[in-house]
Amino acid sequence: MLISPNCADLMKPDVEMKTFPDGDAYIRIPGIAGLGGKEVQVLHRLYPEQDKCIFQAMLMLDTLRKAGAKPVLVSPYLPYSRQDKTFLDGEALSAEALCRMLKSAGAERLVTLDCHFLKKEGRMEYGGLAIENVSMGEALINHAKKLLKGEEVEVISPDEGASYLVEGHGGKSMHKVRGEYAQGEGRETYRKIAKLEREFDVGGKNVLILDDMISTGGTMVRAVENVRKGGAKKVLCAATQGFFLKDSLQKLKASCDWVFTTNSIPSGVSEVDFMSVLKSKGLI
Ligand code: R5P
Repeated sequence: MLISPNCADLMKPDVEMKTFPDGDAYIRIPGIAGLGGKEVQVLHRLYPEQDKCIFQAMLMLDTLRKAGAKPVLVSPYLPYSRQDKTFLDGEALSAEALCRMLKSAGAERLVTLDCHFLKKEGRMEYGGLAIENVSMGEALINHAKKLLKGEEVEVISPDEGASYLVEGHGGKSMHKVRGEYAQGEGRETYRKIAKLEREFDVGGKNVLILDDMISTGGTMVRAVENVRKGGAKKVLCAATQGFFLKDSLQKLKASCDWVFTTNSIPSGVSEVDFMSVLKSKGLI
């Protein structure tokens, strides 16, 4: 049984989700009495407005658990997944904390896509939470092949962290090193890319650069520059998650031949449907 409050592009919302005048969340799951003892999958996007969406998810998990159901959270993108390491004294290990919170709210399992800290496909446990991590690598590569109408393509990842996406497709990885924290606008903080290197040839080849996510676009823009300098022919950029912060989509569109992602985070370039992949694997 699949229910969902906030994925109107994928299915008709059947959970009531409102906001009280002060901003508190209101959740109601109609027909909950009939869900006792059943596994109930809650399809809920946790981005944008991640903190609000996470809390809504927790309210749904808790409500289902109290009704005797077995809730499974299906969230194509898991926020905070990049905070799975600490660098400075006293930093929050946000990825682990979030998984622990989802578990204690009642999640029997989380189904998600290319979770940043897992770095491989399959069922694993993190922060006490069982996670089914589904790779969109193959679907993205197949989409690139369709766009190239049968022309050969070299599949590469911009760093070792995303190498599992391209392994098994003859793929190679570039080497990326991030620098120290830098201060962005207001309270924004980020770690700049110190270097991005490639030790293999791309001259005269079509290249698909595949990553788990495009956030500020810094990684992809550097990777595109690198393969262009190396003489690549057509350059395609793809990722499971596309945030496209600031003007990164425009920049990428201007520098490569195609940019596309899954519809995990909907945008004008979300061309690969993650629901069909989850269905084909019998996960929903
Ligand atoms: C990092 O290790 C990830 O795999 C992505 O490469 C990264 O998060 C992309 O971020 P940005 O678009 O800001 O460079």
